[in-house]
Amino acid sequence: MAETFKLRVNGRDCEVQAEPATPLLYILRNDLKLKGTRFGCGEAQCGACNVLLDGNAVPSCDTPLWSVPGHEVTTIEGIGGESGLHPLQQAFIDEQAIQCGYCIDGIIISAVALLRRERDPSNTQIAAALDRNLCRCGTHVRILRAIRAAARAMRASPKT
Ligand code: FES
Ligand code: FES
Repeated sequence: MAETFKLRVNGRDCEVQAEPATPLLYILRNDLKLKGTRFGCGEAQCGACNVLLDGNAVPSCDTPLWSVPGHEVTTIEGIGGESGLHPLQQAFIDEQAIQCGYCIDGIIISAVALLRRERDPSNTQIAAALDRNLCRCGTHVRILRAIRAAARAMRASPKT
């Protein structure tokens, strides 16, 4: 039976009505119209649906609605600021690290979580952070380059 849940998504409070076990992914895409969070495998294996939950990257396809109230959700739409793109978004453009783009929002979410805990990650640390993000287009080398470039930009501008 549908119940009412209060959520905080991208800094805004909202209310949705749905079954408690509904995956957060469906709420984001269908109820809140935040289409940047993508459906890939539906089994917590591909990372296309990743969002930040209190700053940690989690697969929203495997996050039931009942577990979300009281936590801060950030989707790819909430990553950039009013001043423009997040340094990671800019770096992915600059390094041409995007081909079809289907995986990229989830990868950027994982990278945001990584750069919050590690300002100067090694390639090994980046690869470990992206272990659950699949990219079928194979832009991995460019993705690594973009994340390192964003890390440099963020170290040079600590407010980002
Ligand atoms: S759709 Fe959620 S991890 Fe693949
Ligand atoms: S850019 Fe196409 S799946 Fe990654």
